Amino acid sequence: MQDLDAIVSEALALFAGIDDADQLEQAKARYLGKSGALTELLKGLGKLPSAERPAMGSRINAAKDKLETALKAQREKIQHRKLETKLAEEALDVTLPGRGLGLGGLHPVTRTMERIEALYRSLGFEVADGPEIETDYYNFTALNQPENHPARSMHDTFYLEDGKHLLRTHTSPIQIRYMENHRPPIKIIAPGRVYRVDSDATHSPMFHQVEGLWIDERITFADLKGVLVDFLKRFFERDDLKVRFRPSFFPFTEPSAEIDMSFGDGWLEMGGAGMVHPNVLRNVNIDPEQYQGFAFGLGPDRLTMLRYGVNDLRLFFENDLRFLKQFS
Ligand code: PHE
Repeated sequence: MQDLDAIVSEALALFAGIDDADQLEQAKARYLGKSGALTELLKGLGKLPSAERPAMGSRINAAKDKLETALKAQREKIQHRKLETKLAEEALDVTLPGRGLGLGGLHPVTRTMERIEALYRSLGFEVADGPEIETDYYNFTALNQPENHPARSMHDTFYLEDGKHLLRTHTSPIQIRYMENHRPPIKIIAPGRVYRVDSDATHSPMFHQVEGLWIDERITFADLKGVLVDFLKRFFERDDLKVRFRPSFFPFTEPSAEIDMSFGDGWLEMGGAGMVHPNVLRNVNIDPEQYQGFAFGLGPDRLTMLRYGVNDLRLFFENDLRFLKQFS
């Protein structure tokens, strides 16, 4: 019969060196299994003199507890090590720089358009739309500008090859299209692209306009002035802004005015406006004796130039990111 203490210290040393769960269970069997060393000792108890049995029995049981405790500790150690290895294998390098979303920004003219829409919406104007390829009728005739009328020469126009269509030279045709389908009260703005054969620092062959139209029973030139002055002051966030209405001519308004804004030592033209001509209302079957109102056309590109201090309109349409990124 092996010495109990020798068995225990041999077993403890063996367990401590094992780092595999299955091997540990096999090692356990060598001591605590059916014919394990400790089990054999227990079986041999019967052969001892009865006086020695209780003492020996409790010694063997204490040895068993010691081995079980050591086994439990070793199992946990093995499991812990396994987890550590797994974590190390799956580790992420969180210091790697992100790829980024590459978010774009809004074009400065788009920002102006959105700002204009928000300001006019706050005054109860709705936003209307119309096609960029127009017919002669909507662009000129319906706007009281018959063929051969000298005012047509004001617009140097891009005509399509079919001879029937053209790129709209202003947003005013949207007035006609809207009034054909709506009855007063009418209160809209209509932003969009327009085209003219024109190109220099303050003119581009494609540019933007925002049309305004308010028709009801009692709309006067005073309302026109109030709406436009209020808009310009709010757009530029300046209460001391000076606005001038300079007599002018448009075939579709009477009286007509050019809207100027004080700028440095002089004045800068921001758009045209006037009281809608009775002939225009007649063309869309609205009775000019009952209804009247005003229309205006503003230049958002110019508004953007002034707001951000840009001195060449063409910069807006060259798509140079070094320029555009300054606004986003
Ligand atoms: N459509 C005119 C232009 O492009 C501007 C304007 C609009 C004038 C509405 C009066 C009323 O020059």
